[in-house]
Amino acid sequence: MAKVMFTETVLRDANQSLIATRMPFSKFEPTLKDLDDAGYYSLECWGGATFDSCLRYLDEDPWERLRKIKAACKKTKLQMLLRGQNLLGYKHYPDDVVRTFVDRSIDNGIDVIRIFDALNDLRNLEVSVKETLKRGGVAQVAISYTTSPVHNIEAYVRQIKEIENMGATALCIKDMAGVMSPKEAYDLVKGIKENSKLQLHVHTHCTTGLAFMTYLKSVEAGADVIDAAISCFSGGTSQPATETLVYALKQFGYEVNIDMAILKKINDFYKPIRAGFLKDGTLNPLVMATDADALNYQIPGGMLSNLVSQLTAANKLDKLGEVLEETPRVRKDMGYPPLVTPLSQMVGVQAANNVLSGERYKTVSKEITAYLRGEYGHPPGPIDPDFQKKVLGDENPNTGRYAETLAPGMDQGKKDAGPHARNVDDVLSYIVFPQIAEKFFEAREKREENKVKYKIEKAG
Ligand code: CO
Repeated sequence: MAKVMFTETVLRDANQSLIATRMPFSKFEPTLKDLDDAGYYSLECWGGATFDSCLRYLDEDPWERLRKIKAACKKTKLQMLLRGQNLLGYKHYPDDVVRTFVDRSIDNGIDVIRIFDALNDLRNLEVSVKETLKRGGVAQVAISYTTSPVHNIEAYVRQIKEIENMGATALCIKDMAGVMSPKEAYDLVKGIKENSKLQLHVHTHCTTGLAFMTYLKSVEAGADVIDAAISCFSGGTSQPATETLVYALKQFGYEVNIDMAILKKINDFYKPIRAGFLKDGTLNPLVMATDADALNYQIPGGMLSNLVSQLTAANKLDKLGEVLEETPRVRKDMGYPPLVTPLSQMVGVQAANNVLSGERYKTVSKEITAYLRGEYGHPPGPIDPDFQKKVLGDENPNTGRYAETLAPGMDQGKKDAGPHARNVDDVLSYIVFPQIAEKFFEAREKREENKVKYKIEKAG
């Protein structure tokens, strides 16, 4: 039987999906040795929201967190999530910033970089993939999973071929919303495996309740690695449980080199931590439930709850039905972008505005205007010409790679960050999250001053 490997997400996606990435390093530190010994293919532990949350809420230097994880985990690959040319945010950064960010991630301990673009515009991945390969890292390119008239297996397989030509080391199907069905996963994984020798990872979420079935069918179709979370941080908006999957797959005879006794130890360790987050309200029981609405409406659960709160705020919740009908029309006009952040918000807000104002595209956000200008990349399908004309007039959209239009950013970033930034890692923190990084730097200085004062007082 084939071999199935696991990526453990408790330090990144599970943490992000269930408790908004609020677990500080000090809480998970004692478990790092076991995580390293369990037999995972990789530990997803950095990137995504971890960086922002470290600086903004946890008063932790994200780079230092990474170095400390690396010091404790010497056997297992450390994995991060990178939004291609957008790094960890939503705007495009200049190429020199992207290259330096990748370099420093690898220097500080990352082995595998999962790189994706919300629009699956591969030009937005080129620079980070190339730099990862140059530095000896694993460049795992992820396609953002979605369904639409322009997204089908043939189109995905064509894209896989292009990803191979970029030199990528591995592939991932990334279903951020948990909407990929077992059948869709089976057909897609099979289609990809028939056309590519690259190691294939599958990533999904339990949100709609499909995930366990989706993984089983993915494995049957030849997926090599699946993403899962230790059971007490699994389920709901997080990944399926690692132990459960290992148990089921082993029974089928798959080769799974994971130590169940260590998994139990890890889970026992996290149980009281989970209880603490539940008690203080960081973990909302709602995110642990199954919500199949996303399947009925064909839009991700997070997007649905945003629409509900937008309409509630406008006292127009009775218009929800109309907005849900308008949403796919707006998406079609925009060339069927995958409904992932930030596009899900952009499409949802526009659909609501179209309904509430009584006229389609009476107002259009600056983000959607930028999208039509080509600043996010190629839309997957054609943009409705009337819509484009209404917003852009006679202006022609930029069809080149948007980052080409940006001036280099490292020197400017260093100047802007000022004397608080002590090294290139600080400069990168500043470039990606300027205000938050500045606050973090100031707090760090205060903390150090207080420490010195305390030492002097003690000595005196
Ligand atoms: Co995810």
